[in-house]
Amino acid sequence: MASFVAVYGSPRKDGNSARILKSAVEGALSDGAQVKEFYLRDKKISPCLEIYGCAKTGRCVIKDDFHEIADAIVASDGLFLASPMFFYTVSAHTKAFMDRCQSLWMKKYEIDKTPFGQANTKRLGLFIGVGATKGKRLFDGALLTMRYFFDTFDMDLHKSLLYRGLDNKDDILAHSDYLKEAFDAGAQMNKDADERV
Ligand SMILES: Cc1cc2nc3c(=O)[nH]c(=O)nc-3n(C[C@H](O)[C@H](O)[C@H](O)COP(=O)(O)O)c2cc1C
Repeated sequence: MASFVAVYGSPRKDGNSARILKSAVEGALSDGAQVKEFYLRDKKISPCLEIYGCAKTGRCVIKDDFHEIADAIVASDGLFLASPMFFYTVSAHTKAFMDRCQSLWMKKYEIDKTPFGQANTKRLGLFIGVGATKGKRLFDGALLTMRYFFDTFDMDLHKSLLYRGLDNKDDILAHSDYLKEAFDAGAQMNKDADERV
């Protein structure tokens, strides 16, 4: 049985990405996983201040809600992260959280001197991206960001669910197929995590 963290990155409550992520969480739970959920819109998380208070210990010195989420991810078998596309990348809420993870990057690469590119993917990452337009390259930027972000947590981008053409808050409700796909992906994440242990 795997334990996952689910991070809801949209400022919008019960919007498209949140509903899709919720479905993935329900799928994981149905398969026996444990899931801790965090809604970034409800958290106080400063942007990275680039003061490198983390340089000696790898722990960010800003005291806010960042730590409970990062610590939960470190203790987990994987992360489900959902964000809408804002100007072809993740939301500001999501990006602020990600930038604070520079402290983990410092620990991994500057303090522990982990060789770059060393395959250490004991945790599994699921990224859910949602955008209004239908452009082929809509998720290019976010996927690159996500790969490097997941790496700080020794996690690979195991699965991406990318949905175009969703704009208004309830648009997702016309797509039970997307919700079903997310449910199944959540259940599969649990199976895949169990195999990896
Ligand atoms: C600030 C802002 C920027 C956006 N930028 C894009 C964009 O670059 N490409 C796109 O396809 N949709 C863009 N959208 C639309 C959202 O991605 C879309 O409405 C999405 O369904 C919102 O997901 P949510 O309900 O999970 O918040 C933008 C919306 C906002 C508010």
